[in-house]
Amino acid sequence: MFSKETYAKRRNALRETVQDGLILILGNVDVPMNYRSNTYRFRQDSNFLYFVGLDQQGLAAVIDADGGEEVLFGDDFTLDDIIWMGPQASVAERAERAGIAKARPFDELGDVLKKAQSAGRRIHYLPPYRAENSLLLEKLLGIPAAGQQAGASVELIKAIVALRSLKEPQEIAELEKAMDVAWLMHTTAMKMAKAGVYEHEIAGVVEGIAISGGGMLSFPLILSIHGETLHNHSHANKLSEGRMLLMDGGAETAMHYASDHTRTMPVGGRFSDRQRSVYEIVLEAQVKAIGAIKPGVAFRDIHLLAASVLAEGLQGLGLMKGDLAQAVEKGAHALFMPHGLGHMMGLDVHDMEDLGEDYVGYDDQVQRSDTFGTAFLRLGRKLQAGFVLTVEPGIYFIPALVEKWEKEKRFTEFIRYDEVKKYLDFGGIRIEDDILVTSDGYRVLGRPIPKTVRDIEETMGG
Ligand code: GLY
Ligand code: MN
Repeated sequence: MFSKETYAKRRNALRETVQDGLILILGNVDVPMNYRSNTYRFRQDSNFLYFVGLDQQGLAAVIDADGGEEVLFGDDFTLDDIIWMGPQASVAERAERAGIAKARPFDELGDVLKKAQSAGRRIHYLPPYRAENSLLLEKLLGIPAAGQQAGASVELIKAIVALRSLKEPQEIAELEKAMDVAWLMHTTAMKMAKAGVYEHEIAGVVEGIAISGGGMLSFPLILSIHGETLHNHSHANKLSEGRMLLMDGGAETAMHYASDHTRTMPVGGRFSDRQRSVYEIVLEAQVKAIGAIKPGVAFRDIHLLAASVLAEGLQGLGLMKGDLAQAVEKGAHALFMPHGLGHMMGLDVHDMEDLGEDYVGYDDQVQRSDTFGTAFLRLGRKLQAGFVLTVEPGIYFIPALVEKWEKEKRFTEFIRYDEVKKYLDFGGIRIEDDILVTSDGYRVLGRPIPKTVRDIEETMGG
């Protein structure tokens, strides 16, 4: 945990913005995997971590935005619990660590909220993403699950996004701890990526490194010789010469700050000429996009800059043609990169996505595009110093997508389908780093993970 003053200061800032009513922040509870007492690894809610810092299940905080009173709700452990779980701090002790003056049993939460409701006071709650909290909200507030997303407090969401978007120096230091673990995860994968090795052998070691760092993976590992499947969580293939291995993996620290990097490497350690030529295009797009980062620039413009670099490179390979500015404007490049350039990162790998992507990534000035590809961009708005985000362009040859677009004769003025079809066995390449926006530009976070062709080949010993 950070100091109790950190959490008190964040809650004060929240209260000042929300101004009236009660603010309810629910923590998470243990979730059964296959029977009640065999649970998934516990992951606390990130908003609860941000404002309260306590990483245990079964807690909720209420902040009175009018009067300023703060209460932590939770139940003390019984002797039976302690026999199985070891000594546990009381709820009052936990509240004290978070700088919260009052602690009450969990079942008093419903009464407090109902009393406030009948007095006509507003209860600000967040959109639930877990069934357990959705059921709880139904019980506490009488709002059925189907109405909870629409009923969530937009004021609270916006106030949280404003605070969590700007990382404090101590948060950046935590993020950099996650980056150290990420360096070891990715360089280890590079050393293991030899023909005959199964993806799951590498995946197991890489996940182990994340756990050895004191935390866990920041999302289920994407590791596959089929990098053209954007989020490929299957690890069943055997690596073979001639293919590339794409690994998109991150760690989160014990305090749950994330990293998120992607590297693509040739099995056996040497890129073929064809692989290298596509790789260099993606790398150029990534480096140019990172170089354009500074406060005041809309990230959507950087996404489009990366798309232009990709389109030029693909034209050089004979896969695209025509007026490339128009091709990018109309979204023809999305055949090769059907995703956005990046997203915010922090306590969540897709930071604050539970609050709603559009609240996090867009505003009155920059609204989400409806063009295929650019529409999937999670962050479009103008950058501010203190944002942490990913830059992750890619080029993929997705047989089903190529087949569909060709059949529909889509963008035949920009795409040379006959040439593209020669790459259908190629796979995909993505390169991703994590960037802090500074007052005059950017800083790539963490120890550099090899990403030039030469550095990757050298690390792989190919
Ligand atoms: N690292 C997975 C993603 O950004 O979606
Ligand atoms: Mn990412």
